[in-house]
Amino acid sequence: MRVINEHTITDAAVEQMSGTTNPRLRQIMQSLVRHLHEFAREVDLTPEEWLEGIKFLTAVGQKCTAHRQEFILLSDTLGMSALTNALHDKRATGAATKSSLLGPFYRQDAPMMKLGDSIISKSKGTPVCFYGQVVDSDGRGIPNALVQVWEPDETGNYDLQLHDPSEMDLRGCFRADEQGRYHFRGLCPTGYMIPMDGPVGDMIRAQKRHGYRPAHIHFVIGAPGYRELVTALYVAGDPHIDSDTVFGVSDSLIISVTKKDANSPIAGMPTIHYDFQLAAAKDWTSGRVGADPSQITSKVGA
Ligand code: BEZ
Ligand code: FE
Repeated sequence: MRVINEHTITDAAVEQMSGTTNPRLRQIMQSLVRHLHEFAREVDLTPEEWLEGIKFLTAVGQKCTAHRQEFILLSDTLGMSALTNALHDKRATGAATKSSLLGPFYRQDAPMMKLGDSIISKSKGTPVCFYGQVVDSDGRGIPNALVQVWEPDETGNYDLQLHDPSEMDLRGCFRADEQGRYHFRGLCPTGYMIPMDGPVGDMIRAQKRHGYRPAHIHFVIGAPGYRELVTALYVAGDPHIDSDTVFGVSDSLIISVTKKDANSPIAGMPTIHYDFQLAAAKDWTSGRVGADPSQITSKVGA
């Protein structure tokens, strides 16, 4: 007869899962159980503490709606989303721009615009011309790449946090030209606090973290035959650039505003210049770690 104790329980649980027919699911679940058990042994977890953890996860689940994904926010704030992105980047077979978090404010039905158009419809902030080229791992332009972009307004709120979703602001889709070049008008990015009105916010406060994201603008860039790039550009000098609550910043994604740029496609405007690099893909692959945007039909948090 087997004796179940704090050491034998792990092998017993792993063995019961050994019949899982999907080999990847078997590997993931057995590894998860090994690490979870090791964590409990390491901290000598008490029943009260485990119940506290279950209460917290229950509250995270209860905060989720079709428009709010508190579990992804938990993943973001624990560094799991950034880790998953880093592993995704490592699997690329060619050079590519680093991924960064998709976040909860993406929507895939943003309006298609013409190169040079402005994504600003309501907001009052400092306009900037964003421009650059989408290139492959060898630096060759990728014709007609689709560039999707979204950013918060000058108060640090996305349109979905402020308006009815029928009113879009500060988001758009652009088709790069035959050399992969893009340019559009947007706002100089602003930093903001992640949604703090749920259990993840309680966790952030308990850990004495500030809850801020440094000023950034989001991009999803794709083209047939390439891995979809999910990334963001971060503004140098932001006070939270080295302490992003969701660990999205990499040095290679930090940009500065150029006040006078002789190469600006829109004469006289301050610019943010960035070239994005996409690796080739055999299958359609994406670095998206985010809520299903098709679910976004009402204000976030509603
Ligand atoms: C964002 O950048 O939109 C974001 C990312 C993770 C959590 C909250 C917001
Ligand atoms: Fe954001």
